[in-house]
Amino acid sequence: ASGDLARPTSLQFSAVAHSTAAEMSVAEGYQAEMILPLGTPLMPGLADWKDNREQSAESFEQRMGDNHDGMWFFGKKGNNYDPKTADRGLLVMNHEYVNSAELSPFGYYVQEDKNAAPIYQEFRLASDVRREVNCHGVSVVEMQRRASGIGYEMVPVSNYNRRITSSTEATLTGPVAGSTWVQTKFDPTGYKTRGINNNCGAGMSPWGTYLTTEENFLGVFARGADASQLSSKENYGRTRYGASENFPGWDYLWHTPPASDAIFTDEFARWDMTASGASATDDHRNTFNTFGFITEIDPFAPTAAPRKRTALGRFAHENCAFAPVKTGKPVVFYMGDDSRGEYIYKFVSTALWSDSDIGGGLAAGDKYMNDGTLYVAVFNDDGSGVWQPLVYGQNGLDSSYAPFSFAGQDEVLVFARAAADALGATKMDRPEWVSVSPITGDVYVTLTNNKYRGERADQPVDGANPRSYNGKGNDHGHIIRWAEAGSDHAATSFSWDIYLFAAPSDLAAQNLSGLDNNNDLSSPDGLYFDPRGVLWIQTDDGAYTDTTNCMLLAALLGQVNDGMVVTTAAGQETRLGMQANESNIKRFFVGPEGCEVTGITMTPDFKTLFINIQHPGNTWGAVAGGATPRSATVMITRPDGGVILAESFAAP
Ligand code: FEO
Ligand code: CA
Ligand code: CA
Ligand code: CA
Repeated sequence: ASGDLARPTSLQFSAVAHSTAAEMSVAEGYQAEMILPLGTPLMPGLADWKDNREQSAESFEQRMGDNHDGMWFFGKKGNNYDPKTADRGLLVMNHEYVNSAELSPFGYYVQEDKNAAPIYQEFRLASDVRREVNCHGVSVVEMQRRASGIGYEMVPVSNYNRRITSSTEATLTGPVAGSTWVQTKFDPTGYKTRGINNNCGAGMSPWGTYLTTEENFLGVFARGADASQLSSKENYGRTRYGASENFPGWDYLWHTPPASDAIFTDEFARWDMTASGASATDDHRNTFNTFGFITEIDPFAPTAAPRKRTALGRFAHENCAFAPVKTGKPVVFYMGDDSRGEYIYKFVSTALWSDSDIGGGLAAGDKYMNDGTLYVAVFNDDGSGVWQPLVYGQNGLDSSYAPFSFAGQDEVLVFARAAADALGATKMDRPEWVSVSPITGDVYVTLTNNKYRGERADQPVDGANPRSYNGKGNDHGHIIRWAEAGSDHAATSFSWDIYLFAAPSDLAAQNLSGLDNNNDLSSPDGLYFDPRGVLWIQTDDGAYTDTTNCMLLAALLGQVNDGMVVTTAAGQETRLGMQANESNIKRFFVGPEGCEVTGITMTPDFKTLFINIQHPGNTWGAVAGGATPRSATVMITRPDGGVILAESFAAP
């Protein structure tokens, strides 16, 4: 419920025009400033970033990483989390991946053909790999309101400023901890691993911790010829997650520097999952299984190890969105698996919510995230839907499932995709961010695009994924939403409709939501209901950037299941819940050329909006006179320090 807040009625600002400029543009009446770019020192005594990129690889353990992504602001009072405090806070954000060519002082070797067999004799420099490992992960940055009263600045000397990287030791918790599937040379007992990786979307728990997600972890691993040394289950499980035999990894090649250059044991070898030793604890075959989890970090406990929450399943996690908590009810949250044709999940805790856990840190996480039921979504064409539980021994999740033959709950979670296959889950058009409306409780998910939809036989158009352009995929994406049965987030059925079809406004056959120049978009990705109920939509677009750079839009809600049935150009019937107009969706910001706009959080006083800019082009984010563009955060405020979109809450 929205409590004593007024409900937003109409968007009053003037829409930002399409732009392909090198600079960002924000709605009139607002200002946007670049802060905290790649390389910014988080500790005193470190030299600032230099355009020649000479900073040591090791120094990035104390600098802002690359490709800023999901982000949350935690109000801070004294040394504690306080959801209402805005003067001071911890800004916590993900660094999803690296732009290698713009990070190394030496240039970069890229294997020309990603699909070719791996060339093990060619390798990358140890210092480049170390720098890249350190530029992944999470930054915690203490922020204080500026003396002017408008916007924030970093607190330069803070016990909370911190980096967590793809080398930081993390604990495995929940049903998979200690399983044979995660026993490694690093930890033969299977309770810890080294590093978090490809952290994309984010979440903030009701008890005040940060949830970082591991999305494209597949790409940092390589696999040689070892199928004959593995069981059929091991081979099936790896292949289901993209690592078939002789998989070379993506461009990272982190396994290739000479072992003699390593500064800790297996610094590089751990990224090669080839089964080469006598058992799983002699080599790195299972390290891959220790990635792909939602990982909890308590930003107020700067020495505590991150905890990977295995009960939430292993897949390409995008973000983690909580339903509003209610005393005495389970904690429920929603997650997407961002790959073509993958699934939407939710988790219902066994423990029941108590407000006394606010500020409870990782112990509260142990209570609510280690024990519960993981479900996967089935969307029926008639607008109904069902949540299927991923529970060993139920609904065929046992040895009778021929492709995998499940033997325990640890296997159901490590190979959650295979378990969801067995349950007949609906293959979606790349589930990215999830967000829950504080006004209606409805759950919204961006389905960013899917070039396989209608093109591959296993991904035909269906009611929930109804568009395919000439049978060659859904280029522009859509936003689906649902209402849980009885408004109970723990329910096992729901009703859904499509909130919005993204499309260029001049593509009439695809523009089912009636977008125009002031609100058209492609490939919705970041999604965030602010606590007042304004829906912010961000784009990561490969199909509309000739016309406009990626953007941030503000939107208000239409009706769920108002009964409008439409037929797409692909001939598929579906339910459409909203027609766009100038009052309910409008472009608020356009990013610089080449970028993706992602990650979004608002301060508790609604006066500052932080968003992130990934992989900008040109020289955006470069130091003065420099040539290297850098990912960074953008801070949006009003010049008078007022509340963002205040007019939307005035009486009409
Ligand atoms: Fe990292 Fe699915 O975006
Ligand atoms: Ca994304
Ligand atoms: Ca994306
Ligand atoms: Ca991205």
